[in-house]
Amino acid sequence: MCGIVGYTGTAPTIADGNASGAAAPSGMPLEVVVEGLRRLEYRGYDSAGVALVAPGLDGVAWAKKSGKLVNLIEALEQNPLPAATAAIGHTRWATHGGPTDANAHPHLADGDRLAVIHNGIVENFAQLKAELLADGVTFRSETDTEVAAHLVAKAYRETGNLTEAMTFVAGRLHGTFTLLAVHADAPETVVGARHDSPLVVGLGEGENFLGSDVAAFIAHTKEALELGQDQVVTITPTSVVVTDFDGKPADAKRFTVDWDAAAAEKGGFDSFMDKEIHDQPQAVADTLLGRTDASGALVLDDLRIDESVLRAVNKIIVVACGTAAYSGHVAKYAIEHWCRIPVEVELAHEFRYRDPIVDERTLVVAVTQSGETMDTLMAVRHAREQGAKVISIVNTHGSTIPRESDAVLYTHAGPEIAVASTKAFLAQITAAYVLGLYLAQLRGNKFPDEIGALLEELRDMPRKIQTVIERGEYVRATARSMEKSDKVLFLGRHVGFPVALEGALKLKELAYIHAEGFAAGELKHGPIALIDEGQPVFVVVPSPRGRDSLHSKVVSNIQEIRARGARTLVIAEDGDDAVRPYADEIFWIPQAPTLLQPLLAVVPLQIFAMALATAKGLDVDQPRNLAKSVTVE
Ligand code: F6R
Repeated sequence: MCGIVGYTGTAPTIADGNASGAAAPSGMPLEVVVEGLRRLEYRGYDSAGVALVAPGLDGVAWAKKSGKLVNLIEALEQNPLPAATAAIGHTRWATHGGPTDANAHPHLADGDRLAVIHNGIVENFAQLKAELLADGVTFRSETDTEVAAHLVAKAYRETGNLTEAMTFVAGRLHGTFTLLAVHADAPETVVGARHDSPLVVGLGEGENFLGSDVAAFIAHTKEALELGQDQVVTITPTSVVVTDFDGKPADAKRFTVDWDAAAAEKGGFDSFMDKEIHDQPQAVADTLLGRTDASGALVLDDLRIDESVLRAVNKIIVVACGTAAYSGHVAKYAIEHWCRIPVEVELAHEFRYRDPIVDERTLVVAVTQSGETMDTLMAVRHAREQGAKVISIVNTHGSTIPRESDAVLYTHAGPEIAVASTKAFLAQITAAYVLGLYLAQLRGNKFPDEIGALLEELRDMPRKIQTVIERGEYVRATARSMEKSDKVLFLGRHVGFPVALEGALKLKELAYIHAEGFAAGELKHGPIALIDEGQPVFVVVPSPRGRDSLHSKVVSNIQEIRARGARTLVIAEDGDDAVRPYADEIFWIPQAPTLLQPLLAVVPLQIFAMALATAKGLDVDQPRNLAKSVTVE
């Protein structure tokens, strides 16, 4: 939630080569920051703002506007800001205070000589505000952030040093925060602080960057620093200094970003979501790459857990939220089947509040695209406090959760910009299969040739996913014909159940339609009462070549709802003639082993939700009220 960008410098480095070395045109920092905000807008789009500093400027130059970034860009065109040497920018997902111009960031203090932007929530803001009001400070917004701005201003008046002021204030705030500040007295400096909220540093030549994630600067540099918890960073064009909240020098881990800037562009598609659906075969293929050593044995990316500990694991708990949690449900079926270890799937925000039974023999698997979801991070910390080992499945390098885990399995989906998750979901499922097979190999549950055969099946999935995407026009046409639907149901059994849940979530968040996913077997226990004449119901049909009873039970479910008037929209394997008599529409998918079928069956549901939302004239990349990275609890 909230995207943050900071920049200082005058000489652009170009990440993909062709560094011109030419002097930057005046106003460059503003352009860099606005470009960074464009790439981070998926993190929140209630308002946007920028603040600039430059030698000779009598104060901070700033602009902010409620609504999407485009409103800010229009305002900047009408009222251009002066050239700058350093700049900060913010795109907001509102927490304290509505999405108004006044509540937009930056927040100004010290007679508009200091500007602060913030991601997170200052939990003790009421107490701090009372203190500042008693000092005679006047507030211009309803935000918690403005409190931080006035506190930094006060500390700056006492110390005359922006880094020291920020360090002092960081120690006084409770809650979660990334703060960036610029001051008119230090026109080449941006200072940042982070506590339980993301911030990465981009390293350039004659310029440096700060961002909520690497997307903010990958067009300029791929060299980055991962800040640790409770650190303050001060950047100038030629230096990066990292300290802890006591002001002592601190380490930050250097890494190279393996995404290229083009991956974060629409590439000719109408929306990021459409592009990301088309990226899915590659995302799955890339997530499978490099998983075996020379002997063909599976290997994990960054394993800091002793193998004997993994052999002794007697329970796995997957913690995640939303779509990532549904990938965890698929993981449960696969890992239990392959490894014979009990697997629970728990929404991360429920996990730590229910006093879960976790000990040294529990393996917790945290699944997260952003690597920053606060609920998931808190679950990871809670699990480790109880002695469990944590493996995280993460897409975003440089994020917090991998750093706080015992082992990491990176998904290689590339940047996911559309707020609704698609390719990250398929990559998460793929990584979960890899983890399941790895554990089966380690614990001797499967013979190497069985694992090899399953890996071969997995390696063939990108081709099959591509086939489903190529059949997408029929799904789109069906969606367009259902523009007026106000309630859609989704049914599935076994691994088809999480696919049904994900199909319903996609439709809710994109098309704002009431949608529910059910385990098909649950139908007769209540939900069948929802079925009336014409009620659209998607049904995910398992492979007829798998366990026969599973397939025939789902076919019976289709008959039951059709008999009550439902319009049945069936996702079935090529050649599954048994479904034909009961399906109003059939979306065919290639044949695959039942456990792997979610990688195919969910794709028509993604396309359906996107096409229906588009038909309704909605913004599929930035649905209302949502933000991509939920960094507050
Ligand atoms: C839905 C969606 C969300 C995320 C959830 C977890 O389309 O994107 O439900 O899956 O907020 O986010 P991450 O994976 O970043 O932890």
